[in-house]
Amino acid sequence: MKRQVCILAALVALFSGCSEKEIDSADTLAVIASRASVRSYDTGRTLPDETIEKLLRAAMAAPTARNTQPWEFIVVKDRATLTAIAKAHPHSQMSATAGCAIVVCGTDNGLDGAAKEYWVQDCSAATENLLLAAHALGLGAVWCGVYPIPERIESIKAVLGIPPGVTPLNVVNVGYVKVPAQPKDKWKPHKIHFNRW
Ligand SMILES: Cc1cc2nc3c(=O)[nH]c(=O)nc-3n(C[C@H](O)[C@H](O)[C@H](O)COP(=O)(O)O)c2cc1C
Repeated sequence: MKRQVCILAALVALFSGCSEKEIDSADTLAVIASRASVRSYDTGRTLPDETIEKLLRAAMAAPTARNTQPWEFIVVKDRATLTAIAKAHPHSQMSATAGCAIVVCGTDNGLDGAAKEYWVQDCSAATENLLLAAHALGLGAVWCGVYPIPERIESIKAVLGIPPGVTPLNVVNVGYVKVPAQPKDKWKPHKIHFNRW
């Protein structure tokens, strides 16, 4: 509970322009370290709109190349559509029981050449912010990848009526946790290189 209160204070500080020093760094790091993909939700409990807005505010606070913000978010609360997503995506069966799914979509960022591809990184950063905010609020969430797998892109676009030029990066399922997930220990010092490879 204390962790949720602290991270909420951090989010409030973030959105009200308070100094970074007022953010409890230990709690922020604890939220990051304790996040894990949650795939089991309290079925049928939809999330309040205020909670969903907090998740979206966190997502849109992400870094983005040249501040282009090439993202759009489809919030799915309709149970029939959640079930359709579960059928359209081979590894997102949990959409059927999620409190909501937020589909993070990439749009044209207007940048030239290879920089056009920065949309993937921008939308990924937004997704991670969303996952961390969900965890900080005591919710469970999982990122289910769509882009760059052509069949998944086409089937999710068809289910949600996504127009040409817009690409779904993923489906983020969010819900009240039924079965908590244990964070994996991914700390591998041998993956770190100092000064050069
Ligand atoms: C690009 C990407 C695609 C993923 N796709 C799926 C997916 O389709 N279904 C799923 O259940 N989890 C998916 N995940 C979640 C990963 O399985 C999970 O992050 C990984 O096993 C590490 O576990 P953790 O999130 O609990 O740390 C995806 C994660 C990423 C970053």
